[in-house]
Amino acid sequence: MGKNIKIAIAGVGNCASALIQGIFYYKDVKSDDELIPGLMHNLIDGYKISDIKPVAAFDIDVRKVGKDLSEAIFELPNCTKTFCKNIPHFGVKVKMGRVLDGVAPHMKDYPEDQTFVVAKKKPVDVVEELKKSGAEILINYCPVGSQKAVEFYANCALKAGVSFINCMPVFIASDKNWAEKFERKNLPVIGDDIKSQIGATIVHRTLCHLFTARGVPIDRSYQLNVGGETDFLNMLSRERLKSKKISKTESVESQLAKRLSYDNLHIGPSDYVPFLKNNKIAFMRIEGRQFGNVPMNLELRLSVEDSPNSAGCVIDAIRLVKLALDRKIGGPLISASAYLMKHPPQQFTDEKAREMVEEFILDKRER
Ligand SMILES: NC(=O)c1ccc[n+]([C@@H]2O[C@H](COP(=O)([O-])OP(=O)(O)OC[C@H]3O[C@@H](n4cnc5c(N)ncnc54)[C@H](O)[C@@H]3O)[C@@H](O)[C@H]2O)c1
Repeated sequence: MGKNIKIAIAGVGNCASALIQGIFYYKDVKSDDELIPGLMHNLIDGYKISDIKPVAAFDIDVRKVGKDLSEAIFELPNCTKTFCKNIPHFGVKVKMGRVLDGVAPHMKDYPEDQTFVVAKKKPVDVVEELKKSGAEILINYCPVGSQKAVEFYANCALKAGVSFINCMPVFIASDKNWAEKFERKNLPVIGDDIKSQIGATIVHRTLCHLFTARGVPIDRSYQLNVGGETDFLNMLSRERLKSKKISKTESVESQLAKRLSYDNLHIGPSDYVPFLKNNKIAFMRIEGRQFGNVPMNLELRLSVEDSPNSAGCVIDAIRLVKLALDRKIGGPLISASAYLMKHPPQQFTDEKAREMVEEFILDKRER
């Protein structure tokens, strides 16, 4: 096959950095024969990771706008680990997007190396830029709480005839009205809010599923998350957190035999610890009752580099959208969203979602 998959990116932060580094880190992966650390699929229906070609990018930070994407991904305040240094120039300059509600007021109160600094530039015509670049898929990496900015980019994708992968928790693929807009244009959309490879969500979901399967009802549970990058700094604003909390809580709640009350299931981003940078730490507790109604509990601490953890899933999302485009399938991709996102249009267990995705790849199921 070996055809290009042309992608555009809105928000050149840590996640975009990990994704682009990954495209080069895995550039020599050409077959399914080997087990390669970090990958869930070496190839997807013949599509290699190196088939992914960034052709456009939008940001609002003075240190990124105007730079080649290959350099912008390493600019502050990005702070994720560099695992692939030699990224060639793309000839793709980061263009000025529309700020709208992308930058929370409290972000101004922090040192420049830790926060967003808005460029004093006129925004480009995003629809025109998308069309000119030939982008097929727009990946949305805007900060949590950017309702208006995300709706703006989703609309630009619709107008430019570009599919959409929504990696954060403004609801697009899982919102009926937005889903219909993409369906009407026959454009595939995957969302919402990327579920990392081994992140707090999938670990919490898997454990809840295990408790249920072993006959242990869960009475109470929490998941507290801390990190030290702009994502966590941005999430210090409680007003911006509403949809993130819904997305994370629903994802775990969907795996329980019986739903828990709000007081008994507490999940969310909890604090910003600058020195952690892109290292996210999750603390979890699950309380249940085993044989004889005897109480038990489990406590766990998970430490992960946050952005490469999600990029491992985004490289699959990109190739699954491309398959849908090849097959002329539009609207929300149900199986891929359930497999890869925290807040998909429909929740399934992770095993079932994976099975459905494998069937989709083999062309045995429509979406
Ligand atoms: N594992 C993960 O890292 C993970 C998992 C799930 C969801 N997410 C979500 O993905 C999103 C991206 O995460 P990140 O770590 O890259 O965040 P980040 O803070 O590093 O990057 C956000 C980028 O968006 C830019 N931006 C702000 N407003 C903008 C606008 N209006 N238009 C264009 N660009 C704008 C910022 O300048 C910055 O470069 C966040 O919403 C995050 O919550 C990440």
